[in-house]
Amino acid sequence: MTAHVNSPAAVCPHFNPMAPAHQRNPYPNYAEARRDTPVFYSEAYDMWFVTRYADVAAALKQTHIFSSSGSVQGAELSPVAQALLQKNIGSATIMVESDEPNHTRIRSVLNKAFTPQRIFKLEPAIREIANSLIDAFSADGHADLVPQFALPLPGLVICDLFGIPREDLPQVKRWADDWVTLLSVALPEEQQVACVQSMVAFQNYLRDQLLQRQQNPREDLLTVMLPVEYGGTANLSMEEAFYNAMSAMVAGYETTTNLIANAVTMLFKHPEQYQQLRENPAMLQHAVEELLRIDTSIQGLFRTTTQEVTLSDVTIPANARVFLLYGSANHDPAQFPNPERFDIQRPNAREHLTFARGIHVCIGQALARLEIRVALELLLQRLPNLRPATSAQPQQLEHIFLRGYTSLPIEWDQA
Ligand code: HEM
Repeated sequence: MTAHVNSPAAVCPHFNPMAPAHQRNPYPNYAEARRDTPVFYSEAYDMWFVTRYADVAAALKQTHIFSSSGSVQGAELSPVAQALLQKNIGSATIMVESDEPNHTRIRSVLNKAFTPQRIFKLEPAIREIANSLIDAFSADGHADLVPQFALPLPGLVICDLFGIPREDLPQVKRWADDWVTLLSVALPEEQQVACVQSMVAFQNYLRDQLLQRQQNPREDLLTVMLPVEYGGTANLSMEEAFYNAMSAMVAGYETTTNLIANAVTMLFKHPEQYQQLRENPAMLQHAVEELLRIDTSIQGLFRTTTQEVTLSDVTIPANARVFLLYGSANHDPAQFPNPERFDIQRPNAREHLTFARGIHVCIGQALARLEIRVALELLLQRLPNLRPATSAQPQQLEHIFLRGYTSLPIEWDQA
């Protein structure tokens, strides 16, 4: 692919999203790029990076130019792994990687299950799950927030939403992890094939679950997704149903886990605002928007250009891979004055692009907001003087577009 660049500054060879320093804190690199090379090409990734808020928002609007095909695939699959996957799904695609009109058809099925009224009704169940997770460790005075709370909470909510048994969550998590790994970096073929085998096992499991809804329809998302051909109401093929069920489960799982961990870490760094939220939980609703803005768990996603296009005076060729950096857009001073400052009262915090925008805007955003608000409210209320543990260090996740923690040791005062 030939890179047509109007400005010589538009190539930024040193920008490496997988570099340890970037993984620790990407925001200084984003600030430099937004200022000097807002849209640039990286030869190492064979990819164009878009860093400014206005450009990311413009790309999200122009879905006919910025195609979502391959939008979550950070690394190429080997032909063997690709063939194995294709055997199970045929030509089916998932919503996040589809363009119109397929996207509209699939999304209209899932929309029925994500109405604000349905999500609102989940609050008591989310509280019950969060409280029972805290009950299990509150007497200990210490815990690892990720495995003991931030992971099981959205995981169990997803199980309830889709109607799959809660005891299957550990297996679902292993399958989901393998898929997330496959999306991140170029793996040796053997490992790719093992990950694809996991995806196939996950899809087969969901196909079985869907078929059970044929006999016994229930009040759950899998029943909503059962194809017409199998006695359901969804205008989907069976392959589309199980592939999209898998994708929506994964999309709503670790993203929320990571956001909770990032949010708690941010509050630890700002004890005064933490205290304000503890004393006045009603402020959480707005604070959640600033927490979503300041350290999002999806730093960006990919697009493919269908034609030549110009952003910030830089021309991107047709058929180019583009990385829309939501994390950078959220820190653009042109949109958010003093963007590195964490301010739970920031008036326009909700303008963040954490959930993207346009036709692909996160379908689970109301659920994510609800889970994060309930999680923070209960953690702050029930664990007095919650703080980072002194005995162990947090462990960050390494991923090209996800940002979060695999371990976040915490401690609190015991009554
Ligand atoms: C804090 C948590 C979450 C974050 C940061 C997040 C972020 C996003 C983003 C950025 C997109 C747009 C993808 C694109 O650029 O094409 C998206 C789409 C999506 N999200 Fe979320 N999400 C979260 C939680 C959830 C939850 C809880 C669910 C469901 C249970 C969910 C399901 C989906 C689905 C199905 C899509 C695809 C929508 C489409 O392509 O039309 N997400 N999410």
